[in-house]
Amino acid sequence: MNLKDLYIDYFVSKGHKQIPSSPVVPENDGSVLFNTAGMQPLIPYLLGQPHPYGKRLCDYQKCIRTNDLEAIGDTYHHTFFEMLGNWSLGDYFKKEAINYSFEFITKYLNIPLERFAVTVFAGNDLIPKDTEAKEIWLSLGVKEERIAETVEDNFWIAGETGPCGPDTEMFYFRSDDPVPDKFDPEDSRWVEIWNNVFMQYNKDKNGNITELPSKNVDTGMGVERVVSILEGVNDNYASSVWKDVIELIESMSNVTYEENSESMRIVADHLRTAVFISADKSGIKPSNVGAGYILRRLIRRSIRHAKTLGIDVNSNWEEVLALKIIDKYAKYYSELTDNKDVVLEVLRNEKIKFNRTLEKGLREFEKIISNIDKEIDATSAFRLYDTYGFPIELTEELAKEKGLTVDTNGFKEKFKAHQDLSRTASSGMFKGGLAGNGEIETRYHTATHLLNAALKVVVGPGVHQMGSNITEERMRFDFSCDHKLTDEEKEKAETLVNTWIGEGLTVRCDEMKKEEAIASGAECMFIEKYPDIVTVYSIGEISKELCGGPHVKNTSELGHFKIIKEEASSAGVRRIKAVLE
Ligand code: SER
Repeated sequence: MNLKDLYIDYFVSKGHKQIPSSPVVPENDGSVLFNTAGMQPLIPYLLGQPHPYGKRLCDYQKCIRTNDLEAIGDTYHHTFFEMLGNWSLGDYFKKEAINYSFEFITKYLNIPLERFAVTVFAGNDLIPKDTEAKEIWLSLGVKEERIAETVEDNFWIAGETGPCGPDTEMFYFRSDDPVPDKFDPEDSRWVEIWNNVFMQYNKDKNGNITELPSKNVDTGMGVERVVSILEGVNDNYASSVWKDVIELIESMSNVTYEENSESMRIVADHLRTAVFISADKSGIKPSNVGAGYILRRLIRRSIRHAKTLGIDVNSNWEEVLALKIIDKYAKYYSELTDNKDVVLEVLRNEKIKFNRTLEKGLREFEKIISNIDKEIDATSAFRLYDTYGFPIELTEELAKEKGLTVDTNGFKEKFKAHQDLSRTASSGMFKGGLAGNGEIETRYHTATHLLNAALKVVVGPGVHQMGSNITEERMRFDFSCDHKLTDEEKEKAETLVNTWIGEGLTVRCDEMKKEEAIASGAECMFIEKYPDIVTVYSIGEISKELCGGPHVKNTSELGHFKIIKEEASSAGVRRIKAVLE
């Protein structure tokens, strides 16, 4: 049986509800470009908000990590991967979590104990050593010498702030060498297969650690890695996850995987990620900012490596590969089939665009490096970007292959001077990090509901939310409206929101069936996006919306609301930027 099905079946049999995989681009969260872990969409619930599906959850989640794009090419890095997870939201804790993991690994995956080892948290000044987890492992028959204690690697947090806690990680000895008696987590033959995080703390911006309202469990198991272990291969790309895709690339290129493994892995990995990003509900298209820029880099880098492999990059090679990938995953992710045409169009258009300049750009690159022996200057790097569409990272990669460097800082300055560098490159958004669910974001989140309600009163009931984006500094709210708001309308909406804030209205959260929620008049953005049981947030009598939260308890917590900008977003959609002072 497929690993995903086996995992879900097991945890469902243990009273867990399967929750749908969230989109790869998080909604209502401006702090990360992509979901980087299975727990990311669950942050509000780990922080204490009740989950509509209950306290025991499991899923497989699409994750994207692109902070280390250049690491792709080895046997085990992927920009896209699937993470299996089970969660307890204040229900079971260490004993059951470890018992479930152990039973699943030894009885369902049939991993022999002699190839198994674990790490536990060794303790630091703030949080004590996790003797409980160690005792549980010992009681299950894991030998003392197969339990290692670490500090750094056994405390898990997604980024800098948010829910966190000590963890216990499980390892498998992936090598043909004899298995050593003593487990050394630094020995790369031991590979991590599963992580159980005991999330009982929250870390704030000042580094303060406080107890969460409940003790939670958050686990994560990487599908690609575990499948390769179960299939007995030492290279993830040789497992059934990739094998047929790699074979297809081999047949297109007429060279072998053995001799060209790095470029083949890059093509396979990057195209799979590009397929999932372009199929996402968020509608991301290749561009020069944010997630769109990552998508562009992935496609362009895969084209460049396809060319290295001798594939005719002007042919429909990318379509053949994309269709294969879609076919492999369609059973689990319906958006791949629903948005197949969009995916193919995105890939094709970007390919055509890049192919127009790739050949000339590569020639230009050769010309540039013929005159230097150390560093490519900023002007040349910018020319490659501006005229030939080479993302700076591509120039850096080409340079590295020739033992050269690039004046990247100089490039960035030129780029900034040329056009707004935008959020991405400058704010370190490539690095990922934790979803912003801090106090300020929560206040802004409630303010979007108030503004939505106010606009319906001032402009008309035809106004609907088309999107929103929240950072610590401001909120952005897109809504359907066919005209530029007049000063009077803006002022009225602002006053109304402030009146409701002044009235100290209670914010209530109810769980109900989706149909019931809609029938009761609750507002929602995209009905198909919500699970069967939904949470509905009501603010006094003035607003009722399907929403995952989190929200403040009372509108009096918001402060003073001020609209700072009203502009067009797209045809028939206006955008308001506002702040809470
Ligand atoms: N959040 C933890 C991880 O990503 C466990 O799921 O490893």
